[in-house]
Amino acid sequence: MGGYGDVKLLNDDGTRLDGRKVDEMRSVEIKAGILPNADGSAWVKHGLNVAICAVYGPVEAHPRKIQRQDRAVIDVRYNMAPFSTSDRIRPGYNRRSREISKVTAEALESVVLVERFPRSKISVEIEILAAEAGTRCAGITAASVALADAGIPMRDLIVGVASGKIEDTVVLDLDKAEDNYGQADLPVGILPTTGDLAFLQMDGDLSPDEFNLCMEYNQKAAKEIHEVMIKALKEKYEEGA
Ligand code: CDP
Repeated sequence: MGGYGDVKLLNDDGTRLDGRKVDEMRSVEIKAGILPNADGSAWVKHGLNVAICAVYGPVEAHPRKIQRQDRAVIDVRYNMAPFSTSDRIRPGYNRRSREISKVTAEALESVVLVERFPRSKISVEIEILAAEAGTRCAGITAASVALADAGIPMRDLIVGVASGKIEDTVVLDLDKAEDNYGQADLPVGILPTTGDLAFLQMDGDLSPDEFNLCMEYNQKAAKEIHEVMIKALKEKYEEGA
């Protein structure tokens, strides 16, 4: 969130620089089961973001000190590939990737039936191959499809999506320029069948009305993305049948 008020992000006709309407999402494509050596996997293309997720487990958690006697632990590793952005990213873990890994793990723990797998670990590896704003959301969407593909029981899928504010206007699904130079960003993880939230972060300022409109846009987009997630899982299942 750069917050540079002088950068123009809306055209005179009210559309955005990439031609989208304010409540229009970028296109989303999803494939399930793309990695032969993982227990479950997914590929998500959300706009120009590309995320891959591999899931392993549940297996006995090692070392023992990380075990929980009453449930599985979910170990998430979110990583941006060095070539995923225009400025090559220094490889390895940093504060941002740690934060995103943590909020993603907490979101997934709220839907996975972790109590069914005491003392075990489920590993979720998220690799961002191309980044154009919204990678934490694409990563969460990919992770929940990959967990379903691994056959891990869940209460619901989670859809990652963000809305925000540019030039005092609420818009759905910020792209890179809108994220960099806009006024607010509200990424959420939505359980599509109930509309409940599994995670919420907010950057910048929104009035209560703007916040409610962001949530309305996010809920609408979550329904659309959910359909693509289900289609990907059905296609994978039918292929294997
Ligand atoms: O990707 P997301 O919107 O979840 O997270 P962010 O921290 O708000 O980053 C927004 C965008 O900035 C990313 O999607 C990347 O395109 C870009 N970025 C970057 O170029 N270099 C970084 N070290 C971090 C982010």
